[in-house]
Amino acid sequence: MNETIRSILGRRCIRSYEQTAVEKDKVDAILECGQYAPSALNTQPWHFTVVTNRGVLDKISAENKKVLLESTIERKRLKAADPNYDNFRNAPMAIIVSGAKDAPFAAADCANAVENMAIAAYSLGLGSCYIASFKIAMTKPEGAYLLDELGIPAGYAPLYALALGYGDEVLGERAPRRKNTITYID
Ligand SMILES: Cc1cc2nc3c(=O)[nH]c(=O)nc-3n(C[C@H](O)[C@H](O)[C@H](O)COP(=O)(O)O)c2cc1C
Repeated sequence: MNETIRSILGRRCIRSYEQTAVEKDKVDAILECGQYAPSALNTQPWHFTVVTNRGVLDKISAENKKVLLESTIERKRLKAADPNYDNFRNAPMAIIVSGAKDAPFAAADCANAVENMAIAAYSLGLGSCYIASFKIAMTKPEGAYLLDELGIPAGYAPLYALALGYGDEVLGERAPRRKNTITYID
């Protein structure tokens, strides 16, 4: 075991946070780790939007909630009807990672960046949660205005977000890892 392996194995998705702001030097270090993720042909086809304005995160969640309340799928309507519905899990901030639409491996490249940031956050004593559900409304015409408000550059599409903050969740047992997922060819 070393510190890196401890961080990889120790990181968990956190879904409840203190409202304390995250220090800027920590956010900067996390962003640097995101930018040093591997990417296909080293194209680095990502853009990071750092949102520390909780009102903006609330607005995104409210737009998603509106869409889901109209869903034909009951499970989604019930989820959205929860008064505490919040895609960002009440975190004080989130980093949205957008991928270049013309980069063939943008989804993988951006996912690498998010995981790097999640591990870095954990190593700095922060909690984080990997989020894909935040973009429901912004991929529809009625929510597209959010892309402008977030300053997502032309040619990029939001892919993932990382909710970030000091966690205050009492974590239960970890889900066991699936068995029989490794084949050795000797
Ligand atoms: C691509 C991706 C999308 C995810 N989207 C969400 C999400 O929208 N909301 C959420 O609470 N967790 C989301 N998660 C977190 C997973 O639920 C979590 O990683 C998984 O349950 C394993 O738990 P762990 O990260 O604590 O090991 C997402 C994870 C990934 C990799």
